[in-house]
Amino acid sequence: MNLSVVILAAGLGTRMKSKRAKVLHRAGGLTLIEQVVATAKQLQPERIVAVVGHQAEQVEAALEGSGVEFAHQAEQKGTADALLSSRDLLANQGGLVLVLYGDVPLLSAGTLQHLIESQKKNGPAATILTTELEDPTGYGRIIADALGNVQAIVEQKAGTLDQLALCRVNSGIYCFQSELLWQYLAEISPHPASGEYYLTDVVEVLHRAGHTVRALDMEEWSELLGINTRLELAACDRVFRDRKVREMMLAGVTIEKPETVTIDNGVEIGEDTLIEPFAQLLGKTKIGKDCRIGASSIIQDSELADGVDVGPFTMIAASRADAGAHLGPYARIRMNTHIERDAFVGNFVELKKTRLGAGAKAQHLAYLGDADIGEKVNIGAGTITCNYDGHEKHATKIGAGAFVGSNSTLVAPVEVGEGSYIGAASIITKHVPADSLAVGRAHQVVKEGWAATRREQRKASPKP
Ligand code: UD1
Ligand code: CA
Repeated sequence: MNLSVVILAAGLGTRMKSKRAKVLHRAGGLTLIEQVVATAKQLQPERIVAVVGHQAEQVEAALEGSGVEFAHQAEQKGTADALLSSRDLLANQGGLVLVLYGDVPLLSAGTLQHLIESQKKNGPAATILTTELEDPTGYGRIIADALGNVQAIVEQKAGTLDQLALCRVNSGIYCFQSELLWQYLAEISPHPASGEYYLTDVVEVLHRAGHTVRALDMEEWSELLGINTRLELAACDRVFRDRKVREMMLAGVTIEKPETVTIDNGVEIGEDTLIEPFAQLLGKTKIGKDCRIGASSIIQDSELADGVDVGPFTMIAASRADAGAHLGPYARIRMNTHIERDAFVGNFVELKKTRLGAGAKAQHLAYLGDADIGEKVNIGAGTITCNYDGHEKHATKIGAGAFVGSNSTLVAPVEVGEGSYIGAASIITKHVPADSLAVGRAHQVVKEGWAATRREQRKASPKP
């Protein structure tokens, strides 16, 4: 049977107290709307339509390339009006329409599948996902008869005290028979107090017309959490994080103090990798097998091959490391840097747009930017590539096997040939040919006996 999914995402979300539209806030490393779309896609529907309004451009940009179509709700006149905006796109589609809210992102595809199955099996006009909450404040309440048929949904703002005492709530997730939905949706009248068209009223309209609406009760309510405030956003983020670390641990990753670790949904990690406390693995990061990610390290959109060792407090962004590399502690690696096999990057070393060749070492206190560093090069402590002249960036090239003495300053553009030595504390401004020694520093002057003479002089005429 044909399935269309509509995601309502046009509201601003006043209760977030934000200039950003609610569905663009992030949880689990993605915007709320991206999370809902990812779940919807797992159902493999024929069409997915997002209803956009507030900051439509940004919402559409967040979903670029996802295959989602957009319906525009000109004025935010309520959830029924929002759904109605998608009618022109979907009216001829037939089959079932699954309605999701952009601010209910924790739903699993399994739960939705269950809802669709239940709708297909029993064939009512619609099935609503419901649950019982200890504190139902803010949610619509389900009014049902003794047989379990839903007669109406009453909103928090509109309910009588008796109705508001009911604990069974509307999740905002519904599966409708397409034809009946489009036929009756337009019959909803605006709420006298707010002037809004509530989608929840379609239940009463269908019921009055003699159609049945069923509720599918869920025991596990956490999937139905609606995000209205930043408190709920934080709770939602926590749930996504917990799910991800559980999934990773069951897939063979060791995670110490998992409650402290942040792993975005799109991150991949190989078996027997160890993740230490407070690590953050973000974006499209991919980590191989048998790696260690040290405590409090932050890795964003980067790729680590198997057996990479990352010491504590290391930051890696948009870069990659090949098998057996050692990075950190306290290293910063960014902007398309490539650390090759078995190379070492030690403490307080920063690499930017740099290739560090296989087996090369930069163990302490260095800045290597816009550099191409060959195999087995040794970079001494305190080495600096001066890559910026105040206007432009310039490249440094260091050939395989070269030895750069401590505290060297390499003024780019400059090249050090294969196998060369740079004397410690040199300032290198000219190309160094292969297999040579370059020393660029003041000659040492030694005056023997100078200190003793000075002491004698001071003794003879002490300062007042
Ligand atoms: C809604 C339900 C409530 C349910 C709760 C579950 C209605 C009237 N009420 O209440 O029964 O218990 O969700 O979380 O549906 N939206 C639009 N256009 C609009 C208004 C809203 O697209 O004109 C979108 C919002 O962006 C949001 C979703 O619809 O993603 C829900 O709107 P919201 O205002 O948060 O509804 P609730 O008051 O939470
Ligand atoms: Ca809501």
